[in-house]
Amino acid sequence: MENFKIDVDADGIATITFDVPGRSMNTLTGKVMAEIPEWVEQVKSDDAIKGVVLTSGKASGFCAGADLGDMAAGMLGGADLQAAFDAGWRLNGALRALETCGKPVVAAINGLALGGGLELTLACHYRVAGDSSKIQLGLPEIKVGLFPGGGGTQRLTRLIGVQAAMTAMTAGSSWRPNDAKNAGVVHEVVPAGTEVEAAKAWIKGGGKASQPWDVKGFKIPGGGPYHPAGIQNFLVGNAMIRKQTYANYPAALNLMKAVYEGLQVPMDAALRIETRYFIKTLMTPEAQAMIRSLFLSKQELDKGAARPADVPPSDPKKVAVLGAGMMGAGIAYVQAMAGIETILIDRDQESADKGKGYAEDIIKKRVSRGQMTQDKADAVLALITPTSDYSLIKGSDLVIEAVFENRELKATVTQMAEAQLEPGAVFGSNTSTLPISGLAEASSRPEDFIGIHFFSPVDKMMLVEIIMGEKTGPAALAKALDYVMKIKKTPIVVEDGRGFYTSRCFGTYVAEGMAMLEEGISPVLIDNIGRATGMPRGPLEMHDDVALDLSVKIAKQTAEDLGDAYRPLPGSDIVRKMVEDLGRYGRKNGKGFYDYDSKPKVIWSGLAELAPVKVDELSMDEVADQKRRLLYRQAVEVARCWDEGVIDDPREADVGAILAWGFAPWTGGPITMIDQTGLKAFVEQADIYAARYGDRFAVPQFLRDMAAKGETFYGKFAAQKAAA
Ligand code: NAI
Repeated sequence: MENFKIDVDADGIATITFDVPGRSMNTLTGKVMAEIPEWVEQVKSDDAIKGVVLTSGKASGFCAGADLGDMAAGMLGGADLQAAFDAGWRLNGALRALETCGKPVVAAINGLALGGGLELTLACHYRVAGDSSKIQLGLPEIKVGLFPGGGGTQRLTRLIGVQAAMTAMTAGSSWRPNDAKNAGVVHEVVPAGTEVEAAKAWIKGGGKASQPWDVKGFKIPGGGPYHPAGIQNFLVGNAMIRKQTYANYPAALNLMKAVYEGLQVPMDAALRIETRYFIKTLMTPEAQAMIRSLFLSKQELDKGAARPADVPPSDPKKVAVLGAGMMGAGIAYVQAMAGIETILIDRDQESADKGKGYAEDIIKKRVSRGQMTQDKADAVLALITPTSDYSLIKGSDLVIEAVFENRELKATVTQMAEAQLEPGAVFGSNTSTLPISGLAEASSRPEDFIGIHFFSPVDKMMLVEIIMGEKTGPAALAKALDYVMKIKKTPIVVEDGRGFYTSRCFGTYVAEGMAMLEEGISPVLIDNIGRATGMPRGPLEMHDDVALDLSVKIAKQTAEDLGDAYRPLPGSDIVRKMVEDLGRYGRKNGKGFYDYDSKPKVIWSGLAELAPVKVDELSMDEVADQKRRLLYRQAVEVARCWDEGVIDDPREADVGAILAWGFAPWTGGPITMIDQTGLKAFVEQADIYAARYGDRFAVPQFLRDMAAKGETFYGKFAAQKAAA
């Protein structure tokens, strides 16, 4: 065997060490799944073996789960159902053989165990986890459009009950070792490094070779489908899944079905039910789209797919942050966490200290929750130097500017910082609206000037949008990407332009909601329709979150910049009145389209005067049409960005859309949505909307040309990559 090593000790306990060669982390590759039955058979047939301890040979973890790259390559688009079932059954069959091998098997969990990794341990009779803040246990499959297909839906529910298991599986959440013990997922937590010893002790102490569900008289904790209390979980669970997903995710519905049906039969049949639903889910366009964008493409971007290959790698060790406000403070925190020496500059010492206080607060919380040791906390905080002294910038590899959104101020601090920088150091602006090429005019070294656009809150939002100015050089791009990779965020690279890529396309979602409001559609319906598309919030709610006064400010600035070419956005009169006449700024002052005094928030009663309601009921077909309208409006803007060269890689367009503004994740992103719809059908529908709602739905000519030739974005991209 390539991936497992077996050592039998004097007591007859076989330690099986899982260690995939040449990789830093164990995953369940096809080869690994083929080898599990081999050692299970050996354990079963070798009389000298009395018990088994399964552990990992990797410092980084126990097992991160199925190899999605493998799975995607082997199964996506495959239509042979029997072959797909057999492939899906491989792991389930092997794990069932393991738990019925007749000898006690213990998982010594010495690192993170996620997805198929945790499922592997659930098929063991006993689980011991090390007490380490690095260990997480969970079933995150739902996040890529799947659900656990290695027995997790059947074993976890039988272990901890339907409600707790469904909550964990539908959220894709994970446990730290002690939480896992409290939840009943592991049996024992021991000091890190003593897992194998503790596992052996359990076997020697007479540990039994059987699972609770294989013992006669077993009852599902909290009750199964036919139990009066148990059935409640399904009644309520169905409603909750519907409410959370609007039926956009086949994985969530199929998960529920697999659990409901599986719990009514013995384990062998239950696992076959799980495999059937799993394969069915894997073959949906939603799962294929999500695996590609949220796993494969994201991973490629995380590894620097957009980086110019001919620039040698750099390692930013010292980075100065200008402006210790909301964004600067967040940036300082994430880069210190990545081990980067950070100079955090503001106008005066007090403001700079306040910025560092943000990192202090988060870190204090992490320590109190046991997620970080005090030593690590001290070391991270020691990396941040708050100051008003620009001379401390000296020696920085990179400067990130996050002062007020004001051109003159940004020009001044650019020059002050550049006076301290060595040649080759990069200056990045975190501006959200000001074109980079314009800001670069203040720079004496525009080839090293670039946009590095973070999202708020910086520690939670995983995307960074890198913006190329007209004169930005490849070295600056490479260095900016090396920095983003070092702080473990996902970069996309776009060309300069109003709103860059993400703000520009996101804006169309909000604006289309405003158009619906102007048409007289009830605000409650608009936001419900928005959420039902799979966007995280409705357009009006999002508008409130962004701030209505900001929207008015940006409209004024745009009108000034564009002159005669300026076209006001739909509903801008309504927003202007709300801001200028009525002081309604959005969520930040508790007054926007909603009133925030009460919980839950309610639509502001005065809105009906500014936007009289003409439509407060729609048929299901009309709802579907309005949902599509909201998604299409965004996708058309993405196509325009493509046309203008703002973005040119489908992976960046898709991953960026989902991570930056929450574009309905089930679609896999706007480009995947266009591809899966079919370009011809997309263009035809967009034309209908253009005729009905106006030019903002007009698609660029290149999309018609692609449609006429039967092309797809990803098809073309793959061909280009193959040719390069
Ligand atoms: P903020 O108002 O919270 O912080 C700005 C900070 O800059 C303040 O602490 C201020 O004292 C400081 N500052 C002003 N003059 C300075 C100087 N001469 N030297 C050093 N520091 C100075 O603003 P926020 O929200 O952090 O935004 C900063 C930048 O990030 C803006 O360009 C904004 O457009 C951009 N941005 C904001 C996002 C957001 O969601 N708030 C998202 C992405 C980008």
